[in-house]
Amino acid sequence: MFLRNAWYVAARDCDITHALRPARVLGERIVIYRSSDGNPVALEDACPHRKVPLSMGRLRGDDVECGYHGLVFNRSGRCTRVPAATVIPPNAKVRSYPVVSRHGLVWIWMGDPSQANADRIFAVEHEDDPAWGRDHGGEMTVDCNYLYLTDNLLDPSHVAWVHAGSFGNSACEDVPVQVTSLPNGLVAWRWMHDVEVAPFYAQFVRFRGRADRLQHYEVRYPSHAIIRAVFVPAGTGGHDKPLHADAMIMDSYNFLTPTDADHTRYFWFQARNFRPGDEQVNQMMDDGVRAVFEEDRAILAAVHQGLKNPETPNIDLASDRAPNLFRLRLKKLIAAEQAPSPAAG
Ligand code: FES
Ligand SMILES: [Fe+2]
Repeated sequence: MFLRNAWYVAARDCDITHALRPARVLGERIVIYRSSDGNPVALEDACPHRKVPLSMGRLRGDDVECGYHGLVFNRSGRCTRVPAATVIPPNAKVRSYPVVSRHGLVWIWMGDPSQANADRIFAVEHEDDPAWGRDHGGEMTVDCNYLYLTDNLLDPSHVAWVHAGSFGNSACEDVPVQVTSLPNGLVAWRWMHDVEVAPFYAQFVRFRGRADRLQHYEVRYPSHAIIRAVFVPAGTGGHDKPLHADAMIMDSYNFLTPTDADHTRYFWFQARNFRPGDEQVNQMMDDGVRAVFEEDRAILAAVHQGLKNPETPNIDLASDRAPNLFRLRLKKLIAAEQAPSPAAG
């Protein structure tokens, strides 16, 4: 059900301190903390003795002491102390996960540790460009399977109904969505011409009057997205046209971490090509985007419940092409990962 050889976001950097914090990723219970050298540490959150969560214990320096009988584990998961015993059993250990701080987030590798390569963490464009700003971002838990969220992030059409009055307006109702395949995912996109700027973006555009608008919804395996909104003066936008000098661009980075089959942790932030470092804009983006994502949260919890035990069959629409293709390809990647290697016979 999950792709394991992949980086997922375990937490926001600001939430990981020198204290034990439990998390759940791909159904596994994990304890995370920051060691004194500033690097995050992630261990299996279950003592091998009686499976008490280590997050109920305490830190001893950079090691974790179980709160029941005092077994101590170092950051690689090896037991370094068994009180009142002279020998440490060889199987007194917990799993240790590769973790990296990047983009203000703590990323965890859930698969084969020997394949963990930090260069494969989702890249953020314009990160070092002084002309671009970034807001603080946010996080939430959505009560749905993560694939309903990847569906949603490959479906630009829903803004007309779920986000009418913010990201969407009636201009978003009828323009068909195009689909482009990438080696690492899919893009669902469309240009809408000579439209009114949707209310959320109208606060930020640098030109007056009507616009051409691009919705670029790109999701990469396993479940990370860049949702790009572009507004240019009407008559200047299009698939093969250079971007107008007054283009307003907002890139919303969305990272989905399956907690289990029924819940997903959702982490996000926005980058923009205007008013960098303007704290008022940061706040407007933070507040506005959270309100929009709360609308998605309500809809997606309803989808999850509705499709869990349907009384009648459901149907698909043309706009489901990208979501369904993404699911199919991800399923193949997961199957390939789980297939026994030829060497194993
Ligand atoms: S349960 Fe952890 S030391 Fe006994
Ligand atoms: Fe949405």
